[in-house]
Amino acid sequence: MRLNSPQINLITKACAKASRSLIRDFGEIENLQVSKKGPGDFVTSADKRTEKILIDELQKAHPEYGIITEETGIINKSNLKNRWIIDPIDGTMNFLNGIPQFAISVGYEEEGEIKCGVIFNPIMNEMFCAEKGNGAFLNNKRIRVSNKKNLKDAIVVTGGPKGASKIREKIFSEYVNISNNVSNVRKFGSAALDMAYVACGRFDAYWQREINYWDIAAGIIILKEAGGFVNFFEEDINFPLKKNIIGSNSNIHEKLSELLNKKDIE
Ligand code: IPD
Ligand code: CA
Ligand code: CA
Repeated sequence: MRLNSPQINLITKACAKASRSLIRDFGEIENLQVSKKGPGDFVTSADKRTEKILIDELQKAHPEYGIITEETGIINKSNLKNRWIIDPIDGTMNFLNGIPQFAISVGYEEEGEIKCGVIFNPIMNEMFCAEKGNGAFLNNKRIRVSNKKNLKDAIVVTGGPKGASKIREKIFSEYVNISNNVSNVRKFGSAALDMAYVACGRFDAYWQREINYWDIAAGIIILKEAGGFVNFFEEDINFPLKKNIIGSNSNIHEKLSELLNKKDIE
């Protein structure tokens, strides 16, 4: 692999270390699924355990860096210059059900811009990495977005709405609208992997409302470095960690944005 920044090296090492206990935990899920107690609490502790390993590893090198994490919250709040963005398990529902479609996702941001990121599915042993200006990779192979030209031929992936969403109906009607204009829509349950799969051409596009920054931070740089377009719409300055996102190959990006009937703001 031709990625060589100190940050990407740190992230890949931290992910490899965290993945060892995560793989063990995933094995344990099978037993818990058939037990009376069920895997609920165990999943929460697997999330926390994985996150702790990631934080410890990254902090060893840079105790002063800011960290945005799903489970712990924000660490070193005043450091906005250098920040890690961590989702220890993206795809918890899948993890909980013994479906191997989940990933560790870690991005690194400098002065507000994502510079590199890793999305690692330890069960499939697929590590997606990218660094600004140096391309995107799946394991050691360079990846690129698909070359599909027509939206009507596209396989598009999305997620949500969450149970608590106040715009469930809107999200569902958008889902219908997109479904009527593309080849097929998928819901795979891990936003990070959804983006990584667009980056390597398995899917042609991804969109989602009300997604958290830690779900997509690493995906943003991986998709961009794979030649994809990423933009956000209807941003709310009061909730900077909540995003509405479209990511796709460059050919269908405009059409998909139009279909969502949103004004691009980036
Ligand atoms: C979730 C996944 C899912 C998306 C949800 C996220 P989690 O993350 O990325 O695909 O639809 O909005 O919250 O909870 O599994 O880390
Ligand atoms: Ca997530
Ligand atoms: Ca998570």
